[in-house]
Amino acid sequence: MNILGIETSCDETAAAVVADGKKIISSVVSSQIDIHKSFFGVVPELASRAHVRAINAVIAEALHKAGIALEEVSSKIDAIAYTRGPGLAGSLLVGQITAETLRFLYQLPLVDVNHLEGHLYAAVLEYPRLKPPYLALVVSGGHTELIIVKDFGKYQVLGGTRDDAAGEAYDKVAKLLNLSYPGGPVIDALASKGNPSAVAFPRPYMRETWDFSFSGLKTAVANFVARHAREKGALSRAEVRDICASFQQAVVDTLVEKTIAAAQKFSLKKIVIGGGVAANAGLRKQLAAQAVRRGLRVYAPSLSLCTDNAAMIACAGYYKWRAHPVAAAGLQTIEPGMKLKNWK
Ligand code: KG4
Ligand code: ZN
Repeated sequence: MNILGIETSCDETAAAVVADGKKIISSVVSSQIDIHKSFFGVVPELASRAHVRAINAVIAEALHKAGIALEEVSSKIDAIAYTRGPGLAGSLLVGQITAETLRFLYQLPLVDVNHLEGHLYAAVLEYPRLKPPYLALVVSGGHTELIIVKDFGKYQVLGGTRDDAAGEAYDKVAKLLNLSYPGGPVIDALASKGNPSAVAFPRPYMRETWDFSFSGLKTAVANFVARHAREKGALSRAEVRDICASFQQAVVDTLVEKTIAAAQKFSLKKIVIGGGVAANAGLRKQLAAQAVRRGLRVYAPSLSLCTDNAAMIACAGYYKWRAHPVAAAGLQTIEPGMKLKNWK
């Protein structure tokens, strides 16, 4: 079963064709980083407009790379999956209206996918034999969630961020240090050359809950940088590397400790990670090392599947469709003249 996935929740316009929820036939991601980098964050209005400009070309390229001509879509694609939310409202609407239009044009079933569920399924694409139950840590620019995946489609959310998401903290700290956007990859690279014990930033463990909070850590970095500017002047390159390494160590310690504790508490042997921050070298290394020591296994998607992409949406859509073909996919097709109340 071939699914065409469409993802437009934030600042990546993406389309992919995935077979049977496991084989990526094609995956195209058009990034808007150049548009947003001077603002050190995503500007929603600009993001929506950029999606409108890119979406047709991105879908056409994904189909072309999959060897599917436009007139073959009805026969070679079995369903369309798109990101319904959460995300930026205007950006999401571009993906949704495009998916609805393709559904109308090609008379295909349409599956709406939760973006976080997409991040959960990136690991399933990487490890097709991975089966629930497992613990999942979704860490991205908008989310930091610990979720028990009881079965495909059956989730128990243990906790989430109370303020800044982990990726958001990376992006804000990068801005404080006059680095570039997105902050995660650049801080990750600088951290590998710095001293993680140089600055004793706080670890926001919040042991009484499975929730996370990273805004205090971000403020601690801001205070350190301001005090340094007052007392010692501009930061040297080596000091910036040390701050990056110390900040990253605080984030990684917090994420790893809570994730391992949750896996042990709920007797889950498998840990899945997903979302842009799951691409972080420090997190991947430390989590894998801690897990091995406790007889747990970590399933980390390859880096391109951690950040936003449409292959993960197609994969999540496949499992949702398989579980509830009629309810989830709206197998009923749309015909001209159909009454609005009959629509799914
Ligand atoms: O999943 P994603 O592409 O979009 C959202 O759903 O938010 O995640 C983007 C976030 C950004 O905040 C970015 O700074 C962060 O993921 N990120 C990283 C790394 N690569 C991307 N954070 C830490 N280390 C990385 N290597
Ligand atoms: Zn995401």
